[in-house]
Amino acid sequence: VAVVGATGAVGEAMIAELERSTLPIAELVPMASARSAGKTVAFRGAEVPVVEATPEAFSGIDLALFSAGGQTSRALAPEAVRRGAVVVDNSSAFRLEDRVPLVVPEVNAEALTDHRGLIANPNCSTIQMVVALAPLRERYGLRRIVVSTYQAVSGAGRRAVDALRFESGRWLEGEGFVPEVLPVATLPVKYPIADNVIPQIDRFEPNGFTFEQMKMVRETQKIFGDPALEVAATCVRVPVTVGHSEAVTVELEEAPASMEDVIEALRAAPGVVVWDDPTAQRYPTPMLVRGERDVYVGRIRRDLFRPNVVHLWVVADNLVKGAAWNAVQIAETLEEKGLLRVPATEGDR
Ligand code: A2P
Repeated sequence: VAVVGATGAVGEAMIAELERSTLPIAELVPMASARSAGKTVAFRGAEVPVVEATPEAFSGIDLALFSAGGQTSRALAPEAVRRGAVVVDNSSAFRLEDRVPLVVPEVNAEALTDHRGLIANPNCSTIQMVVALAPLRERYGLRRIVVSTYQAVSGAGRRAVDALRFESGRWLEGEGFVPEVLPVATLPVKYPIADNVIPQIDRFEPNGFTFEQMKMVRETQKIFGDPALEVAATCVRVPVTVGHSEAVTVELEEAPASMEDVIEALRAAPGVVVWDDPTAQRYPTPMLVRGERDVYVGRIRRDLFRPNVVHLWVVADNLVKGAAWNAVQIAETLEEKGLLRVPATEGDR
């Protein structure tokens, strides 16, 4: 099993998930850029050397988990598949391609059936939202989703986590600093993330939405197999290291009989945990769900004016369910279904 991007924030979480996975792993091959030559990562009690990710490095690999950015995926994922590795790719490079399944196992595991070697892991904010909304979609039908996110800096990688720590230290000491990483490392304008929130994640598209916001629209439509589903997203970076939160307003086809009925649907859903008790001030926060695989839902309310509209607060660990666990869960699901192999025809592509 290879992990590409093994030295990154998500790569490290992938290795931790592989450590506790049921997959039979004979050997772990951590891969990164040439910059990481000489580094090691810990896996099941051993220090494993990091190797440079090159096309040749994939010979003999059965499963490759990629989280090293879109460019690396575009360059190397097809090379890995050509050499017989099933790829689960965490970048946005292939997510919307017709022949690439975009999978959240609790929601659309059936999409794995005719994979061609490459499976895409959805965006972190999309994953936790669709896990929470799938049971409501099934019971009442979905018409429209309005979501505002409160996204942790770890979603932007290790440098962003370091930036939050550094800036916060300086800010609390009353010292100055120059923001260098957020909102987007490769764009010219930067904003502080210490003591701040930033209403931009990823670059802007010509329609005025950011790419992150459009990922939530397009990926949700693809996962639910409903290209007409209306989704309006506002994605915001907040000074939290780990754990994305979302305020979700959902317009249903049918008005639920009661909020107890909504809670029952959510409680019965795989991968969902309901923590919702106003009398005990019980609801999920990023710090409370850190390291957990499930998606937590609280603050469940019926709209004051529209009986078919429900408001929810949805929190998950963006590195675990939002990335690493979902990828490993895809691999485990492939293994269970006997699909952890590249179909023969793909070798000649
Ligand atoms: P490296 O540490 O060698 O740069 P993060 O999202 O936390 O910033 O991590 C990004 C990950 O992607 C790191 O493991 C990084 O490795 C890896 N990476 C970046 N560029 C490449 C590349 N061209 N080839 C392989 N891995 C890459």
